[in-house]
Amino acid sequence: MEPFRFHLFVCSQQKPEGVPSCPASGAFALLSAFDRELEARGLTRQVQLTTCGCMGLCDEGPVMVVYPAGVWYRRVRPSDVSEIVTSHLRDGQPVDRLIWNDASAMKAMSIEHGEKFRQAMAARDRSGTLPDRLDQMIRGYMPSRCLLTALELDIFTAVGEGAKADEIGKRIHANARAVEMLLNALVALGLLSKSGDVFENTPESARFFAESSKDNHRHGLLHLANIWHQWSTLTHAVRSGTRTPVEPDNDREAAAGRTRNFITAMQRHAKDRAPLVVKTVGTDAVRRILDLGGGSGAYSIAFAKAYPSVHCEILDVPEVVPLAAEYVNQAGVSAQVSLRPGNMLQDDLGSGYDVIMLNAICHMFSEAQNQELLRRAYHALRPNGRIVVQDFLLNADKASPQHAALFSLNMLVNTDAGASYSEAEYTRWMKAAGFIAVSRINLPGPSDLMLGLVG
Ligand SMILES: C[S@@+](CC[C@H](N)C(=O)[O-])C[C@H]1O[C@@H](n2cnc3c(N)ncnc32)[C@H](O)[C@@H]1O
Ligand code: FES
Repeated sequence: MEPFRFHLFVCSQQKPEGVPSCPASGAFALLSAFDRELEARGLTRQVQLTTCGCMGLCDEGPVMVVYPAGVWYRRVRPSDVSEIVTSHLRDGQPVDRLIWNDASAMKAMSIEHGEKFRQAMAARDRSGTLPDRLDQMIRGYMPSRCLLTALELDIFTAVGEGAKADEIGKRIHANARAVEMLLNALVALGLLSKSGDVFENTPESARFFAESSKDNHRHGLLHLANIWHQWSTLTHAVRSGTRTPVEPDNDREAAAGRTRNFITAMQRHAKDRAPLVVKTVGTDAVRRILDLGGGSGAYSIAFAKAYPSVHCEILDVPEVVPLAAEYVNQAGVSAQVSLRPGNMLQDDLGSGYDVIMLNAICHMFSEAQNQELLRRAYHALRPNGRIVVQDFLLNADKASPQHAALFSLNMLVNTDAGASYSEAEYTRWMKAAGFIAVSRINLPGPSDLMLGLVG
């Protein structure tokens, strides 16, 4: 018995540019068209849509198979989707003009393709060619840099409803020839489209990168454009053991812009994670929460909204406090959330808190700083109070998960002594500070919680 009425496999095997493949023939546009059509017809629970790897029939792509009957279609276009859904999936009549049922020819083609592929791979290996995976990793910065520059120049807003390169160049006060080169690269990366010499935003770019969109992520993403400069010092940082600031520290306006982008980026992550933390921590006997390095205030805001009797105090550096105030006021919880400018490493933390939160904080500091901070947090909590640490936790090997291992380098180039740490390290520090019942709680997504109780 099948768990779904139909299972659609659409080949989406990526191949090097110039080599025939289903993606080169439009497999991703086809997948999107199926996604939209199945959603629109309310069929997503009955029809499973899945990508699959190469079936050796690449010259006839995009290729797809509909199970359980095993009907093969070739050269399928997005414009065929509605007919397939109506005729095949609804009325049980496969679409004859797209069916490919010459099994012996298909098998021969697939076997020949497999044989050629294996020979080509063996020849590449014998000649010592750099594997594609390594080549792509080395060049990975190029697409990333194109997008970061487009965001810095606010290209997607300048493209607007569609414009020629010279007009876009004028709008962003940039060199016309260079702007056109960048626009063409953005088309090649699937971030813009082009008809004749008019450039247009893709629906995705218009939604996530243009100023007029309510889902515009540009300001938060500019934080990544800022830290790109620090990442370019990685080699030096590895040699010297710490970061080298690349921006002149005396440019106050630029620094204020960077801080705003940073807090916008923090807010982007925190607003989705805050409800998970609120749900996990709950408010059993919780009245007062101290949110150390609260950033945009997303976690305090979520607690305040969930529990009207809770009062949260955000302690953050003086330049961030006015930004947090904007978010707190906007959320309408200023009566429950107070703001304190200060330095959590030096200032008195206060006393009698029920919960102290350290969300995305400990990775900024050294082992010794974290041990001292946790010790001081312990003394600022009341008996039975709880410490809540949220961070990217390394596994015991310290080389996984990948995002935590890479984030450790992000801290190497951006902080004096920060790093990603492991569950074992947090456990040791928390126990040394006096906490009991130290435990880890995994959250969906990249960061997890370490909890401890004042005995
Ligand atoms: C990575 S952000 C995390 C923000 C917030 N907790 C969140 O998860 O969205 C780190 C925050 O700690 C603040 N911070 C860094 N050093 C600090 C210090 N010594 N004292 C107080 N706040 C500090 C930063 O300004 C920033 O808001
Ligand atoms: S890439 Fe789709 S069948 Fe080969």
